[in-house]
Amino acid sequence: TRTQVGIVGAGPAGLLLSHILHLNGIESIVLERQGRDDVEAIIKAGVLEQGTVDLMNEIGAGERMMKEGLRHEGIVLRFDGRDERIDLADLTGGKAVKIYAQHDVIKDLIQVRLATGGDIRFNAKDVSVHELEGAQPKIRYREADGTMHEINCDFVAGCDGTQGISRPSVPAGKLEVSERLYPFGWFGILCQAPPSSDELIYSMHERGFVLVSTRSPDVQRMYFQCSPTEKVADWSDDRIWAEFRARLRTRDGWEPKEGKIFGKTVIGMRSMVVEPMRYGKLFLAGDSAHVVPPTGAKGLNLAASDAQILARALTSFYQQRNSDLLDQYSDIALRRIWKATRFSWWMTSMMHSFPGADAFQHKLQVAELDYVTRSRAAATALAENYVGLPIEWPA
Ligand code: FAD
Ligand code: DHB
Repeated sequence: TRTQVGIVGAGPAGLLLSHILHLNGIESIVLERQGRDDVEAIIKAGVLEQGTVDLMNEIGAGERMMKEGLRHEGIVLRFDGRDERIDLADLTGGKAVKIYAQHDVIKDLIQVRLATGGDIRFNAKDVSVHELEGAQPKIRYREADGTMHEINCDFVAGCDGTQGISRPSVPAGKLEVSERLYPFGWFGILCQAPPSSDELIYSMHERGFVLVSTRSPDVQRMYFQCSPTEKVADWSDDRIWAEFRARLRTRDGWEPKEGKIFGKTVIGMRSMVVEPMRYGKLFLAGDSAHVVPPTGAKGLNLAASDAQILARALTSFYQQRNSDLLDQYSDIALRRIWKATRFSWWMTSMMHSFPGADAFQHKLQVAELDYVTRSRAAATALAENYVGLPIEWPA
């Protein structure tokens, strides 16, 4: 088999890349380790930046998102027992975010890709990439029935996330890894209840950070800061709600609306960036090249901007026979990635309780939140990062 671009991974990065390439007349094959039902069921992120929403619409995948997604024009920062609102739309000239679950984005992208003749091979086992330095790289994989396949391509896109094979296939010493571990994780729940708030609440408390998010009028998503080694089994529903109530209480006695909890997960938190995002004919996009802590909701959105940048670079190669943008792919993507890495690190540092922190540290964080929410300049800086910074294309 032969294709122009071989894509490893059917997450947001791989699916978006495949579809944008298709719209530009470039063919690709997507190889996905898991089954379709599995990739459509994983509960992950839920906040789409304005640019990601616009991209979904431009490529014809935004219909259900526009119907079922919730447009949020502001967020609430809760600290010191009070709420301060960041008016995203007012501070950014009308931009906002959309609450729409990642697995719904995945479902919509798979549907539109298959409806337009896309080739997505689910349950592809033992995927491996070869001859990345040569003119014709290869991808090999095994089908469920054991048959081995080889795909010859012009380029390979490594969109296989943090546990993928693409990045580890690059010879040692060719990539520089920058990493930061955080001494806490997030305990996430899904529950059957009406929304507790019209907008997301990012709450800083001495007992730890809490995020009140939502998925729909009757499903709510909430997280609380926990130890990175926290065990789901140690947290009964009652204990979870008591912790949320304690951390979310305001001076006027705010309490979350409780309901049946039907999902509990612990996620670790780290920042990681790999540079450059290219080795020979292999281009890395999304979580295979970088990881951010979830505060600020950048992971999925960075996967989308990487796909957009890589798709334009490949299009310029095939349509104009010009490889300048491909050569600049890593630099263009990394400018945005490092800014999002800074933003998520900053939001994380401002909102969480660090082990061993004293009253001085806590009061500095309160002062920073007070400043960020009261100074229009500081609030604008938060808002423009939250709704998503532009991709900086070369002149
Ligand atoms: P992925 O979505 O990871 O997709 C990679 C795909 O490649 C997967 O389908 C995988 O099965 C496939 N794959 C892997 N290895 C192979 C292989 N060897 N062969 C073939 N296919 C392979 N971000 C936020 O912004 N907010 C959040 O609240 C948030 N919550 C998260 C919760 C969890 C539990 C996790 C894991 C991540 C969360 N993230 C969150 C991060 C966000 O979901 C990711 O940044 C986003 O999924 C990145 O997209 P991607 O396409 O790069 O990678
Ligand atoms: C969600 C996740 C985030 O990381 C965030 O900053 C906001 C919302 C969510 O899953 O809803």
